Amino acid sequence: MSRPRLIVCTTCRAGLPLAEGETPQGAVLHAALSGLLAATSAPPVDLHAASCMANCEQGCSAAIAMPGKWTYVLGRLSPDLAEDLLRYAGVYAASATGTVMPSRRPASLARAVVARVPHLEYAA
Ligand code: FES
Repeated sequence: MSRPRLIVCTTCRAGLPLAEGETPQGAVLHAALSGLLAATSAPPVDLHAASCMANCEQGCSAAIAMPGKWTYVLGRLSPDLAEDLLRYAGVYAASATGTVMPSRRPASLARAVVARVPHLEYAA
């Protein structure tokens, strides 16, 4: 895998009630990311979707992962942050461990990290 995998929860309602037939904000975020990625010749991530990542209270939610790097769970996202998410993914990919300090993230994502998970080969 040469690019990070960005997994977006498409069932997130972002704390909002969902009217009949209304598209969840997570699905809108996924669609926004998909549109941006389709418009570039060098996508910075492989985009995937998931249903409920157990972070509903802080949704929209996403996770970014890459072999040998920390997996980061992100929350408090919204569809208008799609471009910032892709910028963050580029910095994540370039980092040695996946750690991207808040000062190196787009300002809109400075407080987006909810948790991080060690990669499978991680040994402390
Ligand atoms: S619905 Fe998105 S984390 Fe639960």
